[in-house]
Amino acid sequence: MNFNIAVLPGDGIGPEIIEQAKKVVLAVCKRFNHSAVFNFGLVGATAIDQTGTPLPDKTLELCKSSDAVLFGAIGHPKYDNNPSARIRPEQGLLAMRKELGLYANIRPVTTFPALIDKSPLKREIVQGADILIVRELTGGLYFGKPQGRSEDGNTAYDSCVYSRHEIERVVRLACDYAMSRTRKITIVDKANVLATSRLWRETATETAKDYKDLTVDFMFVDNAAMQLIQNPKRFDVIVTENMFGDILSDEASVITGSLGLLPSASVGLSTSVFEPIHGSYPQAAGKNIANPLGTILSAAMMFDLAFKLKEEAEMIKRAVEKSIDGNAVTEDLSRIDPKSTSEVGDWLRDFILKN
Ligand code: IPM
Ligand code: MN
Repeated sequence: MNFNIAVLPGDGIGPEIIEQAKKVVLAVCKRFNHSAVFNFGLVGATAIDQTGTPLPDKTLELCKSSDAVLFGAIGHPKYDNNPSARIRPEQGLLAMRKELGLYANIRPVTTFPALIDKSPLKREIVQGADILIVRELTGGLYFGKPQGRSEDGNTAYDSCVYSRHEIERVVRLACDYAMSRTRKITIVDKANVLATSRLWRETATETAKDYKDLTVDFMFVDNAAMQLIQNPKRFDVIVTENMFGDILSDEASVITGSLGLLPSASVGLSTSVFEPIHGSYPQAAGKNIANPLGTILSAAMMFDLAFKLKEEAEMIKRAVEKSIDGNAVTEDLSRIDPKSTSEVGDWLRDFILKN
């Protein structure tokens, strides 16, 4: 097969980690007789600097006309420390999610045996944890209107808005995943306080009725945050709204030992986007020390979900496992003799070509 892949490196460590994912994709293509063409698009702070907007039309058009989008990271400290900036890099990512209709973000949290002792949790608590967080991605507080400030500037507001339709489609996707796993789903909300959460409960209950033998649990988000740390193995598929999913997935990532390891797929109505869950890590930009595995595992999800090529996806996952077992990893995962970002990419490329 031939793939047209839009590559959006973005800010900070984005370009370095994307470079490694490209190496791995090309190695897989060579190994399995496919070909890939990468087309570069501007996004984020870099796009603001060059074009004045965080998501130029050209980039959006490129995403729409590609088979998949590989995304690096977004964000720059000059905006983080300037709350009055009107144009912000993150708007590029949010606009892309909205414009492509990417209503579900799939974030698998798996443990790697060789990394269990890196986890801040005790071995017996983490060992074997395997969670799939399905985060709603185009609704809730991130997009609800009205959002803004009062005229005198002394009051600010965000709105959490969800329609039945928005809830149903993401819950259905999560239930489909649950049926192919252990048939257990936890719907996380704050129904004791929020009207949107009560609509989530009502809609999710209706939707789940279509699934035979599916165990459905409801849990308040504060309790879920606690239980993720106390007993992560009690969870299988978690589905939740945008902001809760953002927070819980960062929390869940430490279970595996590093935020740098977690991949994600944003799927929906148009081209899917594959992106690590971490940010742009500006302190490490240009130093060749950032962990590329979250992005590389996102490329594995691209082969699986966008191209429907399971064997190719498995090959990448196996290579990543071997690199972790063999300590061919960056400094966040290895204190003794860590490898650079590009050395990890080279290691994985060579492994894939030889196996
Ligand atoms: C993520 C990120 C983004 C989000 C930011 C950069 C806007 O944290 O993908 O989780 O909050 O969705
Ligand atoms: Mn986040």
